[in-house]
Amino acid sequence: MQTSTDVFAKVRGHDRSAVLAAAREAGVLPYFHVLSSPAMPVVEMEGAERIMLGSNNYLGLTGDERVMQGAEQALHRYGTGLTGSRLLNGTIPLHLELEREIAEWMETEDAIVFSTGHQANLGTLGTLLGPGDTVIVDAGDHASILDGCLLSRAKLRPFRHNRLDKLEKMLDRAQGDGGGVLVVVDGVFSMEGDIAPLDSICELCERYGARLMVDEAHGAGVLGARGAGTAELLGVADRVDLRMGTFSKSLASCGGFVAGSHEVIDYLRIYSRAFLFTASAVPAAVGAALAALRVVRSPDGPPLLARVLENAQHLRDGLHERGFTVVAPQRLPAEAAVQAHAPGVRTSAEGERTIVTPIVPVLVGDDWKAALLWRALYDAGVFVNTALHPAVPPGGALLRTSVMATHDRETLDRALDTFARVKHEFESEHGPLPGPERP
Ligand SMILES: Cc1ncc(COP(=O)(O)O)c(C=O)c1O
Repeated sequence: MQTSTDVFAKVRGHDRSAVLAAAREAGVLPYFHVLSSPAMPVVEMEGAERIMLGSNNYLGLTGDERVMQGAEQALHRYGTGLTGSRLLNGTIPLHLELEREIAEWMETEDAIVFSTGHQANLGTLGTLLGPGDTVIVDAGDHASILDGCLLSRAKLRPFRHNRLDKLEKMLDRAQGDGGGVLVVVDGVFSMEGDIAPLDSICELCERYGARLMVDEAHGAGVLGARGAGTAELLGVADRVDLRMGTFSKSLASCGGFVAGSHEVIDYLRIYSRAFLFTASAVPAAVGAALAALRVVRSPDGPPLLARVLENAQHLRDGLHERGFTVVAPQRLPAEAAVQAHAPGVRTSAEGERTIVTPIVPVLVGDDWKAALLWRALYDAGVFVNTALHPAVPPGGALLRTSVMATHDRETLDRALDTFARVKHEFESEHGPLPGPERP
């Protein structure tokens, strides 16, 4: 006798199905489009060339000869896969070299390499935190951070995005929770492209005796004189307990890492289930990440960092001039510890320092309008990413544009002209888009 309901019932008539069906029918679904060329500044998608403004390939290293060779040599030396966990048969010398070089880059005692960035967060938070602990997260943190927190069953205390007063309130409340306290923030937020005020966050964590972990997925290989990330740029690398990063963005591969003290990293090597109970990344991925890291740390690294950040400023300014709502250049703290000489940092006559990260979101507001605008841009030869609710708050739909160091000016200007033309046609049919000042 069957009394239970079908667990698959939820896949029919769920709350996203109607929107999905309508978007598919209207031909404006911005997801799952197929790339049929290498990940370059201009790609081929579905039979046409499109300017790629929707990748995380910030340094453009996926097509770099040295990185391709790193992948190729690893493939030929170690084969297509390792068929086992790092603990057992899945560790090759490239893993150990990569971990050592990441630790040098991050200036930490040790580092551990996971098969993906998502697993790095899951396997760190789910292991270091337990039901008696408290984890305080920025509401804009990446989903993999939230997944790690949920897995740990620690008490979760989210605070409003980048609001230090709210963070302090949570730190104060956590004093009464009775366990250890960890604060986790993104260094650069993946949708908005803004930077966490790590100097003030460090100060608060120190005052309240909390540990701090920073997700540098979009900061490592982008910010700081050595490209070591947001903590380096803001001069607080030695005050952050754990720094996580991925190989799937600037490092042109796939995989993730966590860098910190030897005792914590070694504990993860023995206890982290997302590290132990999964196959090690394929050799080509490890070889590519190592080769890309070596490019970033070579004399060729800083000019690449400078180029991606100059391109970001150019794209932001160009979109702003053409009447789109984009973020203002990010103000950096005035303290001496901030690396004023790092690539991309601008200092005004009044001494104010700003930077524009390679993530340049264009606010649209309405979900449907964002999907229509995405389609118009796609048809005109520009690919961007689309973030709709629940990835962003209701009414906060945005087109997430991002640049690469290898975009040349002519290509970026062509994309900007396309944006202007599409905006004009779009507004005459669908009404105004938000103006240059944020509502
Ligand atoms: C901030 C942040 N953290 C973690 C991840 C997960 O990294 P990966 O895609 O390498 O698994 C991502 C990527 O989507 C990210 O943007």
